[in-house]
Amino acid sequence: MKGLILSGGKGTRLRPLTHTYAKQLVPVANKPVLFYGIESIVEAGIKDIGIVVGDTERYIRDAVGDGSKFGAKITYIRQPEPLGLAHAVKVSKEYLGDEKFIMYLGDNLLSGGVKEIVERFVSSNSNATILLAEVDEPQHFGVAEVKDGKVIRLVEKPKIPPSNLALVGVYMFDSFIFEAVDNIKPSFRGELEITDAIQYLIDKGFIVDYQLVKGWWKDTGKVDDLLEANRIILDDLQRSIGDCSIESSKIEGRVHIGKDSRVINSTIRGPVVVGEGVVIKDSFVGPYTSIGDTTFIRSCEVENSIIMEKTVVENIPYRIDSSVLGKEVFIRKKERTPAVLRLVLGDHSGVEIP
Ligand code: TTP
Repeated sequence: MKGLILSGGKGTRLRPLTHTYAKQLVPVANKPVLFYGIESIVEAGIKDIGIVVGDTERYIRDAVGDGSKFGAKITYIRQPEPLGLAHAVKVSKEYLGDEKFIMYLGDNLLSGGVKEIVERFVSSNSNATILLAEVDEPQHFGVAEVKDGKVIRLVEKPKIPPSNLALVGVYMFDSFIFEAVDNIKPSFRGELEITDAIQYLIDKGFIVDYQLVKGWWKDTGKVDDLLEANRIILDDLQRSIGDCSIESSKIEGRVHIGKDSRVINSTIRGPVVVGEGVVIKDSFVGPYTSIGDTTFIRSCEVENSIIMEKTVVENIPYRIDSSVLGKEVFIRKKERTPAVLRLVLGDHSGVEIP
């Protein structure tokens, strides 16, 4: 059994973060989303993992390396263009050979890992197993129609959903999937869709079954979902305050503070994760906030936000809430100037002011 993690794609829904960065490396509770996926595949006993990469290949390579820090052997597979999930499978054919594999979307998070799911697939006679989660608004997802434990039809974002079972970004296949990806045509959006490949298997009489996800599942491809994933992960955080300096401050509840950080005259109310070498001064950092390494926060209130590394947030007269700030961003209020806004924002940035 091999692993295949998809970390190419366009990432349009996470712009502007994805203009300069891979969306799979956006941190959730200060750890890149992709790392959660790699760890759960390794935990399932799969050490041979291929990562499909696109334009952001060098960032992914820099972050993941040869895989040894995860106890895995990583092979990078370049997808020349992001032509769909089924296309990513197609370009991985040589790497995967005849082995069964688990395909994991690099921007997805799944609680409870995949160990049990993999074991059941390996011992079954299925050609493919998909994971399904019960959702409230199935019309926004790929939806499965199921009967007697088998999948009989997949529909993408149906107006009238045949069930409330949404496709989760984790799939298991045997090598018949290559026959499927070779026989489907691009969809109206010009991509080779994995749902069409799975439908091909169903139509040709291959066995496609499913497993229901018991815990939570999150696709972090949009800002709101990213913040929700951050909240879910921080909900399990343990309090740990390492080798840092806390001066005239209150640290309440489940807070992690990394080494060499300084908290001065501030309140941090967990769950909050603070990286290494961070300075928080004269500020309030509220629940569900993740702050990356060497970030500087002064005279601010922040909550329910992701603030990445080397960012400076200073002297802001409003509470910063439900926000995502990239790396090396700065926001500061200038003293004693007329009430004008001076903004230098990259393409697709967004600012809301009261
Ligand atoms: P998506 O989120 O469906 O697509 P995307 O990354 O192009 O994003 P957006 O819709 O915002 O433009 O992709 C799911 C995962 O699969 C993600 O980790 C990127 C990866 N992927 C590939 O590796 N190759 C591809 O051709 C596509 C479409 C996605």
